[in-house]
Amino acid sequence: MDHFHYRDGHLYCEDLAVSALADRFGTPLYVYSKAAFVGQLRAIQAAFAEVDPLVCYAIKANSNLSILRVMAEHGSGFDVVSGGELYRVRVAGGSPARTVFAGVGKTDDEIADALKAGVLMFNVESEAELGAIARVAESVGRVAPVALRVNPDVDPKTHKYISTGKKESKFGMDVDRSLALAARSTGLKSVTMIGVHMHIGSQITTVEPHAGAAAKAVEVIARLREMGHPISWFNMGGGFGIGYRGPEARSIAEFARAVIPAIRATGCRLAMEPGRVIAGNSGILVSRVIYTKQSGEKRFLIQDAAMNDLIRPALYESFHRIWPVDVPAGLPAPPDDFEAAIGGTEPWDVVGPVCESGDFLAKDRPLPELGRGALLATFSAGAYGMVMASNYNTRPRAAEILVDGSGALVARRRETLDDLIAQERDALEGAARQG
Ligand code: LLP
Repeated sequence: MDHFHYRDGHLYCEDLAVSALADRFGTPLYVYSKAAFVGQLRAIQAAFAEVDPLVCYAIKANSNLSILRVMAEHGSGFDVVSGGELYRVRVAGGSPARTVFAGVGKTDDEIADALKAGVLMFNVESEAELGAIARVAESVGRVAPVALRVNPDVDPKTHKYISTGKKESKFGMDVDRSLALAARSTGLKSVTMIGVHMHIGSQITTVEPHAGAAAKAVEVIARLREMGHPISWFNMGGGFGIGYRGPEARSIAEFARAVIPAIRATGCRLAMEPGRVIAGNSGILVSRVIYTKQSGEKRFLIQDAAMNDLIRPALYESFHRIWPVDVPAGLPAPPDDFEAAIGGTEPWDVVGPVCESGDFLAKDRPLPELGRGALLATFSAGAYGMVMASNYNTRPRAAEILVDGSGALVARRRETLDDLIAQERDALEGAARQG
């Protein structure tokens, strides 16, 4: 079921009219559906049920505390990539024992804190990192559980910035290096190698890259066990793609079918780190038209959400569906194809107020003529939206609303200008006192 849907030409999130939320909480506004988050988590748990998965939601996709709380309440584990993310998991009531710690640059302090918190395992990305984990574990009197992040050298066929599984990527280690490191590490006292981790990229829409990686994992796990490492976990990472335009990505069930035989062959428990597939279509960004203008043949819709709110179009030239929250008479709600020109639409560049030509949400997008104050919905904004937001141009970050049926929780209040200058104002006041 789609938790963002039009009723009589008006967009709803679950049982709430999006326009009422915009009127009440202002724009730009992130609106999330609790049912969508929970539904996606359940769909993954069900699709992989026969291999008893531990779903470790990759909180980098959307780390709002209220969302983490919902995920924890529904049995999710977590994937974190910094001490800061682990802090969020703990504040939200998530269990460190169901949390994996990934990332290429963990510091000694982060490692020590995670060990004391009791994380399930560290995904180790380099020889040097394994050395650091062993040393820190010894100094705090713990044995660190680790999974080797192995780079299976498969091409995930996704945008180059979010492709990680190739040999030349900064992430993980190639198979030969991983095996050599494992062979040298059998005698380590303060580390136990209990898993193999692979994450080959993000927004992967086909099943073959995942299947190829899982097949490599079967071989690597067998070799590590021969060396005496007690491998009991295979962590297949995240990366399942979603439909930004329509149904362009394979379903979770199809991904599951393609990898389950290999996972069974490893005899391991499965961990996974999905982010986008849980959060992406569970949220939208709502904005209001400020002005329209024309320059030459080009039409610009200037609205109040900018690249500082949603940077994905500027950074990856990514596509997000955009449609009016309240659809003008005579137009479909929503169209079958958001890129096709239909009667009553013209191509518009949807841009924000930030002073950069890269500040756009869409280019040449067929949209109806909209007046000042009209509301727009940018879809598939629940993942890598708010988490990548900034204060560029001294723009307060948007509020986040978590909808549950007919209830709306302010999961993050809108920033104030005072929030934005707080860390700097002390300097002025200090200088005034001294001077
Ligand atoms: N595990 C690891 C080790 C990762 O690096 C990532 C994402 C994930 C899991 C979650 O991947 P997902 O299931 O969400 O595809 N900002 C980009 C995406 C960056 C992804 C980084 N790593 C975007 O907006 O498309």
